[in-house]
Amino acid sequence: MMSSLYGVYGASGCGRGILPLARKELQQRGISLDRLVFVDDRPEIRLVNGHQVLSYTEFLQKDATERHVVLAIADSAVREKLAARCAFDGVKPWTVRAENSVLMDDVILGEGAVLSPFVVLTSNIRIGRYFHANLFSYIEHDCVIGDFVTFAPGVKCNGNVLIEEHVYIGAGAVIKQGRPGKPLRIGRNSVIGMGAVVVRDVPPGTTVVGNPAKALLRG
Ligand SMILES: CC(C)(COP(=O)(O)OP(=O)(O)OC[C@H]1O[C@@H](n2cnc3c(N)ncnc32)[C@H](O)[C@@H]1OP(=O)(O)O)[C@@H](O)C(=O)NCCC(=O)NCCS
Repeated sequence: MMSSLYGVYGASGCGRGILPLARKELQQRGISLDRLVFVDDRPEIRLVNGHQVLSYTEFLQKDATERHVVLAIADSAVREKLAARCAFDGVKPWTVRAENSVLMDDVILGEGAVLSPFVVLTSNIRIGRYFHANLFSYIEHDCVIGDFVTFAPGVKCNGNVLIEEHVYIGAGAVIKQGRPGKPLRIGRNSVIGMGAVVVRDVPPGTTVVGNPAKALLRG
């Protein structure tokens, strides 16, 4: 009997971190694990951590009633490109959440998200499409997060923060809270360095590092 096929798109480190979450979810739904594969544009190895690696074309050709993928790619521009390709081919976005991730109250999470273990999203939060929150990250109350935003492990995003699309936040960064009606704003395409302490708005397209975070000046 034909059934749905599930893919983790990207067989590198990010994908190997996400696959166990996907596997757990399918096991809980009683879905056979041979329906879970890696998808990779250059599948050099054909078996990774017990799962087949298919090229995208092979993934589309395999018998299936429906196809679902989670995009295991940290680079948000690549993620956006792949999301468009999948939508075009009728491949459905798949949100994968660790069992112990916590969504507290009135959290709207866009399609195709990945929530790693120990991620906590508190209350009255809006999150766009294809969000990635890596291990031990949190988002506090009243934050608004755009599409294709990426949190590395241990990001602490406090209340009333507005993060525009395609922002990357490095490991262990801390974002100061904003105020109701006057959020702290991180502009589109900005990069927050690991360990940065962000205490004021970050203009679009800026890389900031340090405590307090300042624009990275390249020599
Ligand atoms: C900020 C960042 C994006 C800059 O990367 P880059 O453009 O390749 O920068 P470089 O490594 O060339 O470093 C440029 C300068 O910034 C400094 N620097 C880099 N990252 C820094 C950081 N997080 N905090 C403070 N200083 C930093 C470097 O020491 C270097 O200083 P120098 O010119 O005086 O020698 C990157 O270092 C970073 O923090 N990325 C996030 C990593 C992460 O969280 N990974 C998690 C993976 S899951």
